[in-house]
Amino acid sequence: MKIATAGKGGSGKTTIAGTLSRILARKQGKILAIDGDPNPNLAFALGIPTAASNTIPSIPSSLMQVVEDPDGGKRLVMSISQEELISNYAAGAPDGIDLIVMGQPAHGSAGSGCMCASHRAVRGLIGEMSGYGEHTVTDMEAGLEHLKRGTVRNVDVMLVVTEPYYRSLEAAERTISLGRELEIPHVYVVSNKVKNKSDQAAIESFCSRHNLSILGMVPHDETFIEAERNERSPIDFAPDSPGVQAISEIASKLIALDSPQTRQKDESLGVQP
Ligand SMILES: Nc1ncnc2c1ncn2[C@@H]1O[C@H](COP(=O)(O)OP(=O)(O)O)[C@@H](O)[C@H]1O
Ligand SMILES: [Mg+2]
Repeated sequence: MKIATAGKGGSGKTTIAGTLSRILARKQGKILAIDGDPNPNLAFALGIPTAASNTIPSIPSSLMQVVEDPDGGKRLVMSISQEELISNYAAGAPDGIDLIVMGQPAHGSAGSGCMCASHRAVRGLIGEMSGYGEHTVTDMEAGLEHLKRGTVRNVDVMLVVTEPYYRSLEAAERTISLGRELEIPHVYVVSNKVKNKSDQAAIESFCSRHNLSILGMVPHDETFIEAERNERSPIDFAPDSPGVQAISEIASKLIALDSPQTRQKDESLGVQP
């Protein structure tokens, strides 16, 4: 299954993408993590030590080429094989995860230095790497511009991470509308940094009014902040913390969504408004 996290900057996309990848890897096996943020920091949330994370190569946007089919249709193809991509560019993270960092688009050469090239590369790579490993988890950049360019068109599940305050929820609503326009099969809210019952009620009421389903609620968890101070990933620093537990519940719901035996209707998974 191809999963992506989206949402406002600072909402917790990277923390959730990294922790979710680790939990899915433990439960299900091989995971490919893709850092689609031009300011990459997923390595950190995955538990790759800082020194090692500074040496991860970014993949060149030129790796994805537009190919025209005989019928005039256009496709994005990767100019190297999946195996070559992994052996040349992937960094190993704990629990056997492979991490690919998209990085900044190359500057200097015409055509390849624009952000559209990097957005296209993210979208193409997600598509081309499907089938590699059990799941793909992509941490997207903040904002809506890349979504308008269809970066998540190839994903099955978009998790829109939001904090329990109005502007964040409003941004989540716009993000979800774009996700639906792109016909992503499953688009959910994941609320994060929930401090109390009134935060929870505010999110539930907003989601109910706007017809958004919530896949999970992650509490505000001081150990996430402490983990960061100690340069550790949340799951390594405090594996039993309430935040990690909540993300584990989200992982279980995603596994249920994917499993053919227990394939459930979309609506039965989230907290329905
Ligand atoms: N549930 C949480 N409780 C407390 N702090 C959190 C929580 N989730 C994320 N954070 C903190 O919020 C900050 C932003 O998180 P990050 O994952 O980098 O956001 P984004 O990728 O959306 O910009 C980080 O300092 C992170 O440790
Ligand atoms: Mg981030």
